[in-house]
Amino acid sequence: MNQLKLLFTLTILLVLSSCKENSATPTGTVTDNAMVVSAREEASKIGSDIMQKGGNAFDAMVGTQLALAVAYPRAGNIGGGGFMVYRNANGEIGSLDFREKAPKSAYRDMYLDSLGNVIPDLSTLGATSVGVPGSVAGILEVHKKLGKLPLKDIFDPVIAMAENGVAVTAKQAEMLDNYREVFIKVNSDSSKFASTYKVGDIIKYPKLAQTLRTIAKKGRDGFYKGEIAQKLASFIQANGGFVTEEDLEDYQAVWRKPVTFKYRDLNIISMSPPSSGGVTMNQIFKMIEPYDIASFGHNSEKTIQLFTEASRRAYADRNYYLGDPDFVEIPLDVLLDDEYMKERMSDFSFEKATKSDDVSHGQVEIVESMETTHYSIIDTEGNAVSVTTTLNGNFGSKLYSDELGFFLNNEMDDFSSKAGIPNMFGLIGAEANSIVADKRMLSSMTPTIVERDGKLWMVVGTPGGSTIITAVAQTILNGYEFKMSMQDAVNAPRFHHQWLPDVVVFEPNGFSSILKDDLKAKGYIINEERTPIIGKVDAIRVLPNGKLEGGADKRGDDAAVGF
Ligand code: GLY
Repeated sequence: MNQLKLLFTLTILLVLSSCKENSATPTGTVTDNAMVVSAREEASKIGSDIMQKGGNAFDAMVGTQLALAVAYPRAGNIGGGGFMVYRNANGEIGSLDFREKAPKSAYRDMYLDSLGNVIPDLSTLGATSVGVPGSVAGILEVHKKLGKLPLKDIFDPVIAMAENGVAVTAKQAEMLDNYREVFIKVNSDSSKFASTYKVGDIIKYPKLAQTLRTIAKKGRDGFYKGEIAQKLASFIQANGGFVTEEDLEDYQAVWRKPVTFKYRDLNIISMSPPSSGGVTMNQIFKMIEPYDIASFGHNSEKTIQLFTEASRRAYADRNYYLGDPDFVEIPLDVLLDDEYMKERMSDFSFEKATKSDDVSHGQVEIVESMETTHYSIIDTEGNAVSVTTTLNGNFGSKLYSDELGFFLNNEMDDFSSKAGIPNMFGLIGAEANSIVADKRMLSSMTPTIVERDGKLWMVVGTPGGSTIITAVAQTILNGYEFKMSMQDAVNAPRFHHQWLPDVVVFEPNGFSSILKDDLKAKGYIINEERTPIIGKVDAIRVLPNGKLEGGADKRGDDAAVGF
């Protein structure tokens, strides 16, 4: 009888757990063994080919990062920085911070005039906005610790791609056209991107190929010391910037402990400071966990309210407390404490919006763009890599070294130039993110890996400035709570709130007028003009049968490639 009872209990448990399982039929690319999802098919293919030749996900990361620098120069880079979160096939996790940092000559008020006002463009455009690049140190550090193939085998196909050229897509042609005037202003009318390019044109990158050849041969020193470092530092300084050879030589990528937290039966692994991604997402998830959001329905009024109110509170903490952990004390034990987060939501009601009322609204100008890029990788052994990398703005500072063949970041704008004054994403910063020599600027990048019942389930991330965190969180919820396929979870319309400005931003056409009117009646300020798209998510889901489903965002030229 006891055995019968046990059998009955086990059967009930099995049924319950399989109800939780997301068995949504895949609607994205499905492969048996390995996959890369990135912003360009050419880059995904380079990463996938590396794995097919016997490389692992870490080798593929190096190849994909470099291939994006060639094929997707608006955000793919060697002149910027980023973050990588990984989970080995054996369950070991880790993360690498290859974020840019402030040059040694940087100081708190460097972007302010004598009256203490922010000088327009200084932290966003041209050489003055350039932080010390971290991407080359990042990929070489990953390769040294976790890679399998010789560096040459990884670099060679990328160098060939740079030499043979890459076709211009319709979206890229439009983007290059939009920025041509500013490229000319920052560089000159003889600079590479002063030319006009149309769809189907092949752009070759021989100078970048040469730079990559030097790095492949000399490793880290090929970029951070010697000829390239000299040329790079003098080029930046000749244009009025601050990065020196000493800044380059001193740059180090840093291994950091990822942020990990439970949400129901998920274990979410994401990036810790100096990215705000993991901490802010942790807060959002914990604030919504007490509610049965699945029963509210995807993008329903109640779901939008709950998510918005959690985001409002999490971003308020983000902007005040977070910065480079090597420079500021971050009270993570309090910020991530369950009781603290419960208390933060104690004044939330479905009846009406909470107000972010200590803000002077309307002064906040936001131009959201799709700068930054993300790629997700799983290899044949089950190693998973999630990387978000950036030049900050589209094409970064727009400063392009024709001699070395790449764009430089404008990451200095991710510091808070002046407390209370919004940066290009409208994010209001505080002392924790003030400028200090050698300090890393706060980021929103959220490369994430999700385990379900202890097993690898999802690799996910997105570009999008301040909207990165909410876009990643919504994609996970879409897959988990609303049981969507990976591709549908990525494609679904998104919304965003970041405390200040106190507006809920919706992707146009994704939400009904009735829904928006109901939210307005409750006091929510709606904005659909701010951005045509929120995020461009590239993700992979491990299906119950072990196969992989890619979610390559329909909003871009993104593609999943694997085997
Ligand atoms: N530059 C965008 C970010 O790091 O959040």
